[in-house]
Amino acid sequence: MLDICLSNCKIVPENMTRYVGVNNGKIVSIKSSPIAAEKTIDIDGKILLPGLIDAHVHMRDPGFTYKEDFRTGTKAAAAGGFTTVIDMPNTKPPTNTVRAFRDKIKIAERKSLVDFGLHAGADEPKEIRELAKLKPSSYKIFMDLLDDDHLMNLFDEISNLPGINGSKPIVSLHAEDKEIVNRYTQMEMSEENLNPIIYANARPPLAEEVAISKAILMANEYDLKIHICHASTKKSLNQIKRAKVDGCNITSEITPHHMFLDSSYLDRYGNFAKTNPPLRSRSDKIKLIDIYKADTIGTDHAPHSIAEKEENIWNAPPGIPGLETALPLILTQVNRGKISFADVKRLLCENPAEIFNIKNKGYITEGMDADFVVVDMKRETIINPDNFYSKAHYSPFKGEKVKGIPIMTILRGKIVMEEAEVFESQGKYVYS
Ligand code: DOR
Ligand code: ZN
Ligand code: ZN
Repeated sequence: MLDICLSNCKIVPENMTRYVGVNNGKIVSIKSSPIAAEKTIDIDGKILLPGLIDAHVHMRDPGFTYKEDFRTGTKAAAAGGFTTVIDMPNTKPPTNTVRAFRDKIKIAERKSLVDFGLHAGADEPKEIRELAKLKPSSYKIFMDLLDDDHLMNLFDEISNLPGINGSKPIVSLHAEDKEIVNRYTQMEMSEENLNPIIYANARPPLAEEVAISKAILMANEYDLKIHICHASTKKSLNQIKRAKVDGCNITSEITPHHMFLDSSYLDRYGNFAKTNPPLRSRSDKIKLIDIYKADTIGTDHAPHSIAEKEENIWNAPPGIPGLETALPLILTQVNRGKISFADVKRLLCENPAEIFNIKNKGYITEGMDADFVVVDMKRETIINPDNFYSKAHYSPFKGEKVKGIPIMTILRGKIVMEEAEVFESQGKYVYS
């Protein structure tokens, strides 16, 4: 007899009632009639999606645990329907050495409620070769902090490394050009205007688009696989799409905040809407009709403390917590007919698994990990950051009405969230 049967599931886009058999944390059968199992979880005709994979989170652990830690951050993930997260390396110490990488795996193994991967910092050329053995999901480069000379050295170095599971290594890029960002930031700072709205001008679309062009040309030169994080303008998505057609090994991520918000939110929510790259004007920003050009949605869950966010616009750190708002915001658009379930699966499950080589996740098929999120498309709520599991109790989506929410998250056959309550579980390193 199997461990679990998830009964009366609707697996979109197919519109049939299905029964999913789970054994030892894996999907072992998908049938149209009940399956004998020790335990039955009745899904009651609701929609069963693969557990979501967020390839872009900042858990702040170690070093900045007053902002977030692997426990609170992954509680937020489970609450939001995510069963796998990939953490960014800008912690203290940064995850750019073998030692820091090993230590972070240990921290996450102890604290994480969902499965996890780690991006490696790529700014320590001496360490990169040894780091490769620990299977980083990608090498993360912040182009806004690096000179071209340094960038080329890193591309050169990484292009000679092995990847995970026989694939090439991937470079994830925060694509904003350092010199352009510095030039425009200096200009805005000299104006002595502290209205947060100016932040959109301090890091203009040009900075992103130049960085993406540079990254594309260099990726071609070094025969590298690159992933552009948080592409925020329509032009960026077009550049990436064109490069792909021309044979560049490039993929992209978009975020819910760049998709649903524009720079006027800096006026409404001040620094709580401050993020890098900044929210864009209505004419520059990505639109819902452009999402077919994107490969993934990542939340860029980037929590900070309220006290930090209450500093002036230049001193307040950039970043928005996104794990608990992403899925309800997206499902609201599915309800409105603006996004399809096929897009949700492609952008939040299948492509993140493929791009970052996470075997056994991203699909509801036999042999895959039994990672799911059950969604109730009829349930309405109002986004309230006071209820977040994340330590960052703020959001520029505060007060937004949403329809369609995750009501159950299952990790390798175990319920980790039900009706907003989060349960104990032990996340695993996805490449172990
Ligand atoms: O808004 C951002 N916050 N963009 C980044 O690139 C970094 C991130 C953070 O770590 O807070
Ligand atoms: Zn970034
Ligand atoms: Zn980020």
